[in-house]
Amino acid sequence: MKILSVDTGTKQYPIYIDSCFDALPPAFEKAGISDRKVCIVTDSNVSPLYAQGIKELLKNVCKDISICVFPAGENSKNLETISGFYKFFIDEHLDRKSVLIALGGGVVGDMCGFAAATYMRGIPFVQIPTTLLSQVDSSVGGKTGVDFMGNKNMIGAFYQPELVFINTDTLNTLPYREVAAGLAESVKHGYIQDVDYLRFFSENKEAVKKLDPEAIAQVVYGSCKIKANVVSQDEKETGLREILNFGHTFGHAIESLSGFDMLHGECVAVGMIAALYLSMKRGAVSQDDVADAKELMAYFGLPIFVENFRADDIYAQMFRDKKAKNGVINITALKAMGSAYTEKNCSEKEIKDAINYIIRG
Ligand SMILES: NC(=O)c1ccc[n+]([C@@H]2O[C@H](COP(=O)([O-])OP(=O)(O)OC[C@H]3O[C@@H](n4cnc5c(N)ncnc54)[C@H](O)[C@@H]3O)[C@@H](O)[C@H]2O)c1
Ligand SMILES: [Zn+2]
Repeated sequence: MKILSVDTGTKQYPIYIDSCFDALPPAFEKAGISDRKVCIVTDSNVSPLYAQGIKELLKNVCKDISICVFPAGENSKNLETISGFYKFFIDEHLDRKSVLIALGGGVVGDMCGFAAATYMRGIPFVQIPTTLLSQVDSSVGGKTGVDFMGNKNMIGAFYQPELVFINTDTLNTLPYREVAAGLAESVKHGYIQDVDYLRFFSENKEAVKKLDPEAIAQVVYGSCKIKANVVSQDEKETGLREILNFGHTFGHAIESLSGFDMLHGECVAVGMIAALYLSMKRGAVSQDDVADAKELMAYFGLPIFVENFRADDIYAQMFRDKKAKNGVINITALKAMGSAYTEKNCSEKEIKDAINYIIRG
């Protein structure tokens, strides 16, 4: 087992990375949240796989444990589902000391975290992420929320968990397409902060793709370390944290235009190719770097171009992103491999050239 620490200045919490759940009860005790009422919040896919097992494990260290299940998928990520949670919590007599557990992917984590931030003005919660995307990205950093009127993550709060417990063995039940989407976010961490981590991917891509336990433990550890480091320095995204948006300005636009048919990680993958191309045109990275990135993404089964999109539509959509400030698109670009920054002065031509680079057909 490996343990990392997130320290935002206002809150410090551990991230446990293991290949089983055995160390979960002592983790609760160590965090000072044992002997309390617990509610496991999970979705309809994850519940039959892991909820009962977690309940059994925790029953000796926690009081009555209930399980609140909602229909899996991004379509559930709304205030109606949150209302259902509040009703469930009230029926179960959860109080300020009770603990919520987010058991599942990013949808569960973001919603359970938001419910924890708002129920009775805030109660403790624990993240048990079960998708690769949530293990390497969404469970760390305290962003919580729901979609609203077609806008992703429009309503939310920064709210940190008491602990994050990652059991990489849960990835064995995850469909490969979801694994690949998580790999896009983890590779991203290499591009923005750590060339050694990036090299690990290209040197171990077969082992990573087939979820070899050692390789995947390294991936999760490496990503959590980078993300924990970034969010520890900039909890509320006022500066440094923006580098985590590498590939996302292009990616979000594609995600919206695809009507959410493409997975978030898939959009980030192709968005990173556009951002790498833009960085290459500025002389910050080489043509080989772009070619290597395309080869790696393609090996993982991630898209490296999109079909049936118009460059003008993607460009216009980028301005609608909630992160476009005062009509300016901030693009996270690379200074060099393993080093990202926010570029506020990209010309329309530069951005459109990068978009055209990832469009086919
Ligand atoms: N808070 C953040 O910082 C942050 C960062 C990135 C993404 N997100 C959010 O995360 C969400 C996407 O997360 P996601 O990709 O984990 O999606 P998800 O939670 O919908 O999970 C994907 C699918 O996998 C299933 N699943 C989960 N774990 C499983 C397992 N172990 N075995 C089998 N099936 C399993 C789920 O039921 C679902 O059908 C989006 O809503 C996005 O906005 C948040
Ligand atoms: Zn992302």
